[in-house]
Amino acid sequence: MNKITVVGAGRVGESTAQFIASKDLCREIALVDINEGAASGAALDIQEDAPLFAFDTRLIGGSNPELMADSDLIIITAGIPRKPGMSRSDVMEVNVRVTDEIVANTLKYAPNAMMLIVSNPVDILTYRAWKKTGWDRNRIFGQAGVLDSTRMASFISLETGYSSLDINAMVLGGHGDSMVPMMRYTTISGIPVSNFLDQNKINDIVTRTRNGGAEILALRQNSSAFAAPAAAVSIMVDAIVNDRKRILPSVAILDNEYNCHDMAIGVPTVLGKNGLEQVIELELNEQEQADFNNSVAQVKKDLDILSKL
Ligand code: 2OP
Repeated sequence: MNKITVVGAGRVGESTAQFIASKDLCREIALVDINEGAASGAALDIQEDAPLFAFDTRLIGGSNPELMADSDLIIITAGIPRKPGMSRSDVMEVNVRVTDEIVANTLKYAPNAMMLIVSNPVDILTYRAWKKTGWDRNRIFGQAGVLDSTRMASFISLETGYSSLDINAMVLGGHGDSMVPMMRYTTISGIPVSNFLDQNKINDIVTRTRNGGAEILALRQNSSAFAAPAAAVSIMVDAIVNDRKRILPSVAILDNEYNCHDMAIGVPTVLGKNGLEQVIELELNEQEQADFNNSVAQVKKDLDILSKL
C-alpha cells in the first residue's frame, strides 16, 4: 500500500500510526488532526524511531485535510472519547458530526480510498460513513471484534495459564455491553475452551470481555484504552495490505446476512486487498441467536437516534 491517512492524533491515532509504521505496511502515513501541533509532533516523533524499528515509512502530520490526498486507506480515530460512566452511545452526536466532516474530506481528497472506522459508537459511525459515501461495502468497515476478541483471549490466557499464541477467541455483535462472545467458537489450539474452564469461569470471562473498554477507562479515568485498540487496527491493516484473506471479525454493512439489512454490526469477515471481501455466516444456536438479536436491537436503538440527528 502506498499511503495511509490516520485521522485523529489522540492516543489511538498516534499508536495506530506507530504500529503501522513499525510493521512497514505502507510508504507514507499522514496523521491529520484539528490540533496541528499534536499531529505534526506525533508524526515527527514516530519518524524519529524509524532507525530503531527499521522501517522506511515516511510520516507527515498536520491539520490540513489536503494531507489526505490520494490515500489508499483512511483510518478514522477522531472524535471525543467517553468519560467514566458514559456509554459509547453517549458520544454519538458529536462523533457523527466529526465523521461527516472527515467523510466529506475523503470524498474530496481521496475518493478512491477504503475507510476503516475506529471511533465510537463504531457500528453507528460505520453505517453513517457508508451512507454518506455511497461506496460498496467492501470499501468501508469498522474495527471492534478484533479488539473484543483479543481481550477475551487475554483473559482466557490469564485464567488458564496457557500461551496467548494458542488461543483463538471470537466476539460478534455490536461494540457495546451487548456484544456476543462466542464461546462455542473459542478454542485453545483447536480444543473448545469448555475443556479447560468451568461454566462459572467462562461466565466471568464473558462479563469481563463485555466490560473490557469500561474497565480500562475506570482505571485510567482520563483516557480510554489505546494500546490494544491500535494493535487491533494494525492487524486489520496488515491483512488488507498483504492480501492475507484473514478471517477476522469486522463491523460490516449487512445485506440480509444474519437476517439484518441496512445496518452495520460485528460479524466474521474475510479481509484482503479489496478490503472487506466477504461476510461469513455462521449457524447460531438458540442462545447465540438470542444474544445476537439483543445486540442488533441495541444497535438499532442508536440508529433510531441517528435518524433524528
Ligand atoms: C474500547 O473498547 C474505546 O471502545 C474502545 O476500549
